[in-house]
Amino acid sequence: MLDALSLLPDDPILGLAAVCRADDNPKKVDLTVGIYMDESGVCPVFDAITQAQARLVSQETSKAYLPPAGVEGFNPGMQKLVLGENSTALADGRVSSIQAPGGCGALRIGAEIIQAASPGAKVWVSDPTWPVHIPLLGSVGLQFSTYRYYDAETHGVNFEAMMEDLKGAASGDIVLLHGCCHNPCGADLSQEQWKIIGDMAEAQGFMPFIDIAYQGLGDGLDADAAGLRQLAERLPEMIIAASCSKNMGLYRERTGCTLFVGKNAESADALLSQAKVAARRVYSMPPAHGALLASAVLSDPELTASWQSELHAMCARINGLRSDLVEKLQASTGRDFEFIRAEKGMFSFLGLSGDQVQALRDDYSVYMLGSSRINVAGVNARNIDYLADSIAKVL
Ligand SMILES: Cc1ncc(COP(=O)(O)O)c(C=O)c1O
Repeated sequence: MLDALSLLPDDPILGLAAVCRADDNPKKVDLTVGIYMDESGVCPVFDAITQAQARLVSQETSKAYLPPAGVEGFNPGMQKLVLGENSTALADGRVSSIQAPGGCGALRIGAEIIQAASPGAKVWVSDPTWPVHIPLLGSVGLQFSTYRYYDAETHGVNFEAMMEDLKGAASGDIVLLHGCCHNPCGADLSQEQWKIIGDMAEAQGFMPFIDIAYQGLGDGLDADAAGLRQLAERLPEMIIAASCSKNMGLYRERTGCTLFVGKNAESADALLSQAKVAARRVYSMPPAHGALLASAVLSDPELTASWQSELHAMCARINGLRSDLVEKLQASTGRDFEFIRAEKGMFSFLGLSGDQVQALRDDYSVYMLGSSRINVAGVNARNIDYLADSIAKVL
């Protein structure tokens, strides 16, 4: 029976990263996977996480299962982080949440709840979106439509087209939105545009499902969540999938959270009870280590301050790299790359053709996705000139 299953190709992003790792060109540039890398090309552990971990290791007395909703303290900490200290939805008690294995696990739990409430519901996803969204939500049984989002000509959001398409989103449909730092394009909605989405959701009755995997890496922790916070204040229902992979550097610890904003406290409780049952049938209990660390960082003022200052520095470095890249690319190619400065988070499309991307790989060992999406955090002082010169050559 199992013999009928054929060999599948590697995941396109992870497979490409493996090809890059195997490349022995000392000048190679890895702009593939979405992990933050520092100036020396290392994905660092936050100081606050190292400190929390030292405490945890010296104090932990048991590895017994966590309760189904996860580490005590993690959920309240995440609710405040995502929705803000002054959230009225929080004050009204209409928010609940469950710890999940990473942002992917959080998305999956959100999808399970949508499927339980409305089997085969339609989810509107941006064109383009993170390629994992469709298999992750689709395997639960949800259906998809796309809305136009990124305009390759202007290198920005085509909001007119987005609105036009979302006029087709009916009551009971779900609209998946990237909370900030859109993956793959880096082009985000303005606060005015978030407001218009809120008006449309209210008028048409669709429910936003927010994927926020990069909070703190665009403009800062509060600014990056401002759009979704607007929606949480005014809409009766929404689901948010948050990840601690990037903003706490907990990638391999699989730490995330699904937040439910319900009509009232009873519905928030009902959603949590459903989420616990969904988790039980998918993976039972979430892993403890990352959430214990995140919870320690979010509840200890000193660790919080240290984490936030390091995150702030990462965000500033990414934005600095964006500016540097604009200058270098404009100087080497004579073309306009100003859009890179305006985009947010780790990703941008360079606007290269498939052939140009392939030539960069083959001739210069510069690795980016076939769509010419780059991870800006893979750029550093040692590789930026080589990168800009290589791009100029393939152009
Ligand atoms: C848009 C988006 N959502 C969710 C995730 C999930 O992240 P993780 O499961 O590693 O926390 C990622 C990771 O790259 C992402 O880019």
